[in-house]
Amino acid sequence: MNPPAIDLQGVSCTFISKDDPGQRYTAVRDVNLTVGASEFVSVVGPTGCGKSTLLNVAAGLLAPSTGSVKVFGEPLTAINTRAGYMFQTESLMPWRTALGNVMAGLSFRGVSDAEATKQAEDWLRRVGLGGFGDRYPHQMSGGMRKRASLAQTLVLDPDIILMDEPFSALDIQTRQLMENEVLDLWAAKKKAVLFITHDLDEAIAMSDRVVVLSAGPASHPIGEFHIDIPRPRDVAEIKTTQRFIELHAAIWAVMREEVLKGYQQQLKAA
Ligand SMILES: Nc1ncnc2c1ncn2[C@@H]1O[C@H](COP(=O)(O)OP(=O)(O)OP(=O)(O)O)[C@@H](O)[C@H]1O
Ligand SMILES: [Mg+2]
Repeated sequence: MNPPAIDLQGVSCTFISKDDPGQRYTAVRDVNLTVGASEFVSVVGPTGCGKSTLLNVAAGLLAPSTGSVKVFGEPLTAINTRAGYMFQTESLMPWRTALGNVMAGLSFRGVSDAEATKQAEDWLRRVGLGGFGDRYPHQMSGGMRKRASLAQTLVLDPDIILMDEPFSALDIQTRQLMENEVLDLWAAKKKAVLFITHDLDEAIAMSDRVVVLSAGPASHPIGEFHIDIPRPRDVAEIKTTQRFIELHAAIWAVMREEVLKGYQQQLKAA
């Protein structure tokens, strides 16, 4: 059997306070999480539970305090070069045009300007930004900027796509359009996707599997659900189907208490 694209085993991440080294915070503890080579897996959980932390571990940006991380069967010891990353925050370089932003990664890899331009223009077209390549980020809407970031990630043709709440800042219509676009792009190439969201609807609509994390500290998976809704899916339409509603109820039953716990903890910390 082929090894999974991402394989976290027994991963814990403890942060030590810069001001007081005696202060420690264990964000995630003993997490096992795998993503198959062509699988779309979402991780959901309350705010602050450690979702971005786990994504950073899979990206090789953060070494776990304990546990092992494998990428296609190989231990991950540096940046995960098989993965493309779409961040929670804006990631476009403000001093570059949309085209310049999408080209950047290719140029960095040593691809010639002519070839990088061709591929970047192609990807801008695929994400609906053909003709907008000369716009700077501040000249684009939030949705357009997200499209440009998507092109920036996918132009590198990564085997693994890591997405951290990529659409949470968008209005619901734009968001659903982009979710469907991502599913279409994914269906064409079937890469491994690790998708982080706090939105259960989005997680179910997009994924093959949904993993629920408990509230922190020491957050860990407390439920795992196979989403047996046939593809292709329309993220807006499937929400009214019987199976979606059943899955939503089952996952929410596990998640509800954790969301309340997470919220209480934030109130206490404030
Ligand atoms: N570098 C760090 N140093 C100290 N604490 C950190 C660090 N990174 C994350 N944390 C803490 O670890 C916990 C998990 O953070 P993380 O960003 O992974 O949460 P999240 O689930 O992505 O939250 P959200 O849904 O709000 O994005 C938080 O309590 C956070 O404050
Ligand atoms: Mg986060």
